[in-house]
Amino acid sequence: MNTIEKCDKYVLNTYKRFPITFVKGKGVYLYTDDGRKMLDMGSGIAVSSLGHADKKLVKAISGQAGELIHTSNLYYTKPCVKLAEKLVSRSVFGKVFFCNSGAEANEAAIKLARKHGKAGSTDKFVILSMKNSFHGRTITTLSATGQTKYQAGFEPMTPGFAYVGLNDITDLEKAFDEKVAAVIVEPIQGEGGIISAKQEYLARCRELCDKYGALLIYDEIQTGVGRTGKLFAYEHFLPVEPDIITLAKGLGGGMPIGAMLVKEEYAGFLKPGEHASTFGGNPVCAKAGCVVLDTIEKDGLLKSVAKLGEYFKGEINRLKAKHEAIRDVRGLGFLLGIEFDFPGREMVEKLLEKDIVTIPSGEFVVRFIPPLIAKKNHFDSVIEAVDSILSQRT
Ligand SMILES: Cc1ncc(COP(=O)(O)O)c(C=O)c1O
Repeated sequence: MNTIEKCDKYVLNTYKRFPITFVKGKGVYLYTDDGRKMLDMGSGIAVSSLGHADKKLVKAISGQAGELIHTSNLYYTKPCVKLAEKLVSRSVFGKVFFCNSGAEANEAAIKLARKHGKAGSTDKFVILSMKNSFHGRTITTLSATGQTKYQAGFEPMTPGFAYVGLNDITDLEKAFDEKVAAVIVEPIQGEGGIISAKQEYLARCRELCDKYGALLIYDEIQTGVGRTGKLFAYEHFLPVEPDIITLAKGLGGGMPIGAMLVKEEYAGFLKPGEHASTFGGNPVCAKAGCVVLDTIEKDGLLKSVAKLGEYFKGEINRLKAKHEAIRDVRGLGFLLGIEFDFPGREMVEKLLEKDIVTIPSGEFVVRFIPPLIAKKNHFDSVIEAVDSILSQRT
């Protein structure tokens, strides 16, 4: 049996996998067991921020593994505290809760928001979330997710969630009342097709949260840690500031770590014993997070991410004039999506044939979310491949 056959036999079949087995990675390239070298424009769904086998990251992780892998959060460890300090000093937030994944970071945010809401009134627990959003696969983050296709068959959902249209201010105003404890919104919907929140919408969210004493949560699990060309996507929408952001994916450069960052004034709403995670802030993962943040800063990655993202959009817009099949190109930095007039999965498969790894998003969108170290020549090969695939299609 080969790896794919063995996987089918032993691993629970919850993924629609592409028939490729990766054995190695270096920089922005992945290598398969049958000798193919593939350009990674997916970063393992926005995770491998420094690419593959980054020397500093590998050294830090292996060094830390040789020193101390785990102790539990009953004690203090240095990497976790260092990472918290780095996150706080680079943001408007005062404290960090560490966990292992995006869903868990959102769970922490939802729990904190409920605790804060209920401190005011027992029925202040409603969380407004956006239609077409994605917040995770646990029952409560699935409940926050505004897409019934992910919820189907798992009902009943956690009570206390209501859904409003992203960028629909009237809908938001209608849904808001004293019972709302929080609004949760992705600055750019990642799984939902790379759809950006508008400045005026986020500003209205902020005003209504302030008026009704609710918290504003940005789910930055996909947009955070440099992906949009700023360290955090909330920076694109200043002076509007959220009270909480959630991170995961790119934070550990491939090591599993999630984080909830909260403004100092709300940090005290979760008290000792009220929330926890056995592995949260694990020394090895936290060390990886420190290297990711330091490298983004030292190597000036944000500048090139912002610049190349604009370059890609410009070039795809030029292709749009040539190929009717391109409906739109959107996103910021290296969180980019092209919408086609045919299912995105078809383009993902065609690109795989050309040794380019991408990720579908929504039904008609393909995501281009390479490691933050990707260069112009990598984008050029993608642009050329998309052009050639569309030319052959017509
Ligand atoms: C915006 C957003 N929130 C939450 C999640 C869930 O993260 P995880 O799969 O790490 O639980 C994802 C994952 O795709 C995401 O994109």
